[in-house]
Amino acid sequence: MAVSFKELGLVNTREMFKKAMAEGYAVPAYNFNNMEQLQAIIMACVECNSPVILQISKGARQYANQTLLRYMVPGAVAIAREAGSRIPIALNLDHGDTVELCRSCIDNGFSNVMIDGSALPYEENVKITREVVEYAHPRDVTVEGELGVLAGIEEHVSSETHHYTRPEDVEDFVKRTGVDSLAISIGTSHGAYKFKVKPGQPIPPLRFDILEECAKRLPGFPIVLHGASSVLPEYVEMINAYGGKLENTAGVPEEQIKKAVSLSVCKVNIDSDGRLVMTAIIRKYLAEHPSEFDPRKYLGPAREALKEMYIRKCQMLGSAGRGG
Ligand code: G3H
Ligand code: 13P
Ligand code: ZN
Repeated sequence: MAVSFKELGLVNTREMFKKAMAEGYAVPAYNFNNMEQLQAIIMACVECNSPVILQISKGARQYANQTLLRYMVPGAVAIAREAGSRIPIALNLDHGDTVELCRSCIDNGFSNVMIDGSALPYEENVKITREVVEYAHPRDVTVEGELGVLAGIEEHVSSETHHYTRPEDVEDFVKRTGVDSLAISIGTSHGAYKFKVKPGQPIPPLRFDILEECAKRLPGFPIVLHGASSVLPEYVEMINAYGGKLENTAGVPEEQIKKAVSLSVCKVNIDSDGRLVMTAIIRKYLAEHPSEFDPRKYLGPAREALKEMYIRKCQMLGSAGRGG
């Protein structure tokens, strides 16, 4: 039986984004795949009083089991409320690739869905996005669309290639689809290898000119930045110090994220930094405690480090203290 996000104590992104735009900060959208990540996100956002978008990819949904997730999320909301927190919490499908998947998530309590038709020809992207909006809006679920393709995970394109958003398309796309927010491509990509730079070389600036032009054409409209992990060097170093092999990683410097936020970005997607923190702490713990085999012993410290990292991100995005 279908369940509405409202029954789960969640909110859609409409008011969240309105407040973020008015007050000049961005709402964090953190991905999770398991209990420890979800606990870390919720505890961090409660502690620093930040609104939050919990994010589940198609892969996460398959990994964690959609029914289990359906019950975990209200559990996370309950933890926040028991702690006396009123922070708004949304649940988003990250990179939905079909209308059917989006519908299924809407029917299972998601409050926002992303339909990512960005690799499709423009008219097909409009069509599929419109179809999702037509199902979502009568249920009060908000929808994120995407124009322009990020290099990397959006697999139809070579990982070398960015297809930047064409600002001349954005008004037409928003008008014809009815989306509530729009992800754009300005030079970020998913994962830990976002830029090809030699060690010590500066990270090139994102295409802020494209962002500014999109914002000018869509005044007051929520813009979303994907691929926003900084690929935290201290955790990459920790991974490598304890047997890992991550070479030539590069993320988006926090100064650039802050600049994007000042130019109308009001949702910032972060996944890889959480993966790095978790992997680094677990590697270190196991290397230093070779006879330990209780998962709580290494997942506990990983969860604690994750929480601290999410608090720092909320402070960086300006969402800390804005939970109402
Ligand atoms: O945008 C991609 C997110 O980092 C999710 O990645 O599909 O491996 O869960 P995933
Ligand atoms: P990162 O890989 O930079 O964390 O980006 C995550 C993302 O955009 C999820 O949609
Ligand atoms: Zn993404």
